[in-house]
Amino acid sequence: MSPKPRLFSGMQPSAESLHIGNYIGALLQWKELQTSHDAIFCIVDLHAITVAQDPAALRENTRRTAAQYIAAGIDPQVSTLFVQSHVAAHPQLAWVLNTITGFGEASRMTQFKDKAAKQGADAASVGLFAYPTLMAADILLYNAVAVPVGDDQKQHVELTRDLANRFNTRFGPTFAMPEPMILTETARIYDLQNPGSKMSKSAESTSGVVWLLDEPSVTAKKIKAAVTDAGREVRYDVAEKPGVSNLLTIFAVLADRSIASLEADYDGKGYGDFKTDLAEVVVATFAPVRARALELLDDPAELDRVLAGNADRAAAIADVTLATVYDRVGLLPKR
Ligand code: TYM
Repeated sequence: MSPKPRLFSGMQPSAESLHIGNYIGALLQWKELQTSHDAIFCIVDLHAITVAQDPAALRENTRRTAAQYIAAGIDPQVSTLFVQSHVAAHPQLAWVLNTITGFGEASRMTQFKDKAAKQGADAASVGLFAYPTLMAADILLYNAVAVPVGDDQKQHVELTRDLANRFNTRFGPTFAMPEPMILTETARIYDLQNPGSKMSKSAESTSGVVWLLDEPSVTAKKIKAAVTDAGREVRYDVAEKPGVSNLLTIFAVLADRSIASLEADYDGKGYGDFKTDLAEVVVATFAPVRARALELLDDPAELDRVLAGNADRAAAIADVTLATVYDRVGLLPKR
């Protein structure tokens, strides 16, 4: 039997809770993919500190993110689920990759440009600039061929491919070539109050962000208050009806229905009924995930134990790749 293809993905522990965009754009796919792939899922705390984090909150949010991965169906016995800073090879390989990355190339990353613009270019850190090379290190250390992400991360995976190619050409075949895996129809979930922007953990106002760990009554309220338009028709039309189209996407994915059948069901009914039913679907999906996550968080010592064991498994793979890279580059081994 041929081994399963290796898969790698990660999320930043930069908020108390993941949101419905992370859930639909990433976690739902991860859960499915862990049976067909040799899957490695990371909580990328070193990426999170590229913007200022409160130290105590970061530690807590790292556990909370792990709990949500597991509660959403990532099985740490089946997949490898670990914290990035527990495996030292990540920043070590990132350094080597920094040395073969062009300054101009890194400057073209749209996520860097967006985040730097938000902070003012002078306030943006070198760490933020180097975010994509650390992400490339994450993927290449495990020779992952599949990288399931939302479409906002596609450019970073393309840079990873370029760096893998460059390294392989310069130093000999070392890295496998990763492919982004993007489910186009769900690749981007938008803010419920501002359907022109993607839902984000770092949104200025969180009234349009549906958190996985929100109380069910808060979730229902946010969905009922979602911005729509002056019309009445429940119809998928991103240009004319971005708010309604976003809600239709969420409904279709979570209820496993087609958008066309939802449009037919709500024909002539207006937005009120539609939002009430959607609120029920979202609450029914998230309630058990929330309950399980909170239960896991009640026993942080056990959670830490699971994370430590998984980090050892990850390090066993990553250290081999790093040793090869150091050797190919010509670093003198310590004897
Ligand atoms: P992060 O934490 O910003 O996002 C985690 C995942 O959620 C997806 N996502 C969305 N999908 C749909 N709609 C949205 N509104 C939405 N917001 C976020 C993101 O595309 C992502 O898949 N840089 C990565 C973390 C990372 C990584 C990696 C991923 C670090 N190293 C290696 C893959 C492989 C990120 O943006 O995380």
